[in-house]
Amino acid sequence: MSRVLVVGCGCTGALIAALLRRNKKLINITMWDKSKGAGGRMSTSRSPQDNSCTADLGCQYITQHSSYLNKHSSYYEELKNASILVPLNTEIEYAKNNENDTNYVTPAGVSSIVKYYIKESQCCSSYQMQLDSIVKKEGSWMVKAIDGSEGVFDSVVLTIPVPQLFLLQGDMPSILSASSQVKSNLEEVDYSSRYALGLFFDKGVKLDEPWSGKYVNDHPIFRFIAIDNKKRGQAESPPSVVFHTSVPFGKQHLEKTPTEVEPILLKAIKEMFPNWPAPSSVKTQKWRYSQVSKPYPGSPGCVVLSENPPLVLAGDAFSHSNFDGCIVSAEAVLKEIEDKL
Ligand SMILES: Cc1cc2nc3c(=O)[nH]c(=O)nc-3n(C[C@H](O)[C@H](O)[C@H](O)COP(=O)(O)OP(=O)(O)OC[C@H]3O[C@@H](n4cnc5c(N)ncnc54)[C@H](O)[C@@H]3O)c2cc1C
Ligand SMILES: *[C@@H]1O[C@H](CO)[C@@H](O)[C@H](O)[C@H]1NC(C)=O
Ligand SMILES: *[C@@H]1O[C@H](CO)[C@@H](O)[C@H](O)[C@H]1NC(C)=O
Ligand SMILES: *[C@@H]1O[C@H](CO)[C@@H](O)[C@H](O)[C@H]1NC(C)=O
Repeated sequence: MSRVLVVGCGCTGALIAALLRRNKKLINITMWDKSKGAGGRMSTSRSPQDNSCTADLGCQYITQHSSYLNKHSSYYEELKNASILVPLNTEIEYAKNNENDTNYVTPAGVSSIVKYYIKESQCCSSYQMQLDSIVKKEGSWMVKAIDGSEGVFDSVVLTIPVPQLFLLQGDMPSILSASSQVKSNLEEVDYSSRYALGLFFDKGVKLDEPWSGKYVNDHPIFRFIAIDNKKRGQAESPPSVVFHTSVPFGKQHLEKTPTEVEPILLKAIKEMFPNWPAPSSVKTQKWRYSQVSKPYPGSPGCVVLSENPPLVLAGDAFSHSNFDGCIVSAEAVLKEIEDKL
């Protein structure tokens, strides 16, 4: 039975695992992620006081772009059937909407998309497993995590942010050096950076705002605000609010820690919304790799670093930074490796 390792339990990795399982019944799929849970940039955070108070600090809502209307319709239909996606039916102020695009939200939080596909893949997923090195050995890949865990796989797919590929040890530096064109293409990939802050309130708190989300254009710190439970169509749940900083603010404070930046953000929030009660908890997150501002040249969906044994690079950096981009990347990976398993 062919053994496949998918590194990264984000949306792209989860889609790859689910599509592999559907096309190839008899394979052994393993997933590793360095974080404590699934989601990546589609993560859902919970209030430490109340499990039912959640906030999506990364991806906000899913837009089915008209350009993918037919190509990706089965993915949207499947997620709608499973009640993972429902139409966005509250107002996001100042959103740039194309009349032919459809926006969806996730009642159970955006990580439910990723968890759905991981479940479909029937894989064995391990968390707090950070890939450190990858070495070719007797026609397979020997991989090692920073905690010393090891594994041997017939194929490996890496969906980690591109700059982090350059930190991997073992054969990785020499594989990258051997293909100078791929290496220089990877070096061209760029991401925006921003901070996200979540406010979690007690059940019963009312935040009297007419919107569920809004883009702000004239604020020195913030770019987007969402009353997250309302945005997800869960107005009766305990309120949570998500703030995204602008990209210039993210860049300016990139080397600070979330603990250092949090007071700056809270002070600005207090000035913007002086009437809101105090939250029961706060979470600040730095997205060093937020959205892909410059994808891999030509946006090929994936890049094959080694044909045999297969080693493939994937993720939104190889397409574009949204759900459709994750699908494009996952389908490209399938096309490259399914015949080799
Ligand atoms: C603030 C923000 C807002 C966004 N808004 C939207 C939106 O409204 N709509 C939309 O469609 N998209 C949005 N996006 C983009 C969307 O979230 C991404 O395109 C998508 O989640 C990318 O998925 P991915 O699997 O390619 O990458 P990721 O989700 O980044 O997954 C990569 C995974 O690899 C793991 N990893 C990294 N290094 C290692 C290692 N060495 N070993 C093991 N694991 C490792 C990481 O922990 C992570 O889980 C937003 C993103 C952000 C940050
Ligand atoms: C799948 O692979 C994992 C990791 O290599 C191993 O622990 C597990 O026993 C394998 N499962 C099957 C059904 O072969
Ligand atoms: C969604 O549900 C409908 C009705 O049950 C079914 O006909 C359709 O095949 C489903 N679509 C997908 C992609 O699962
Ligand atoms: C939306 O679709 C219609 C019909 O295909 C087309 O005529 C129109 O130009 C599209 N609008 C935009 C903003 O792309």
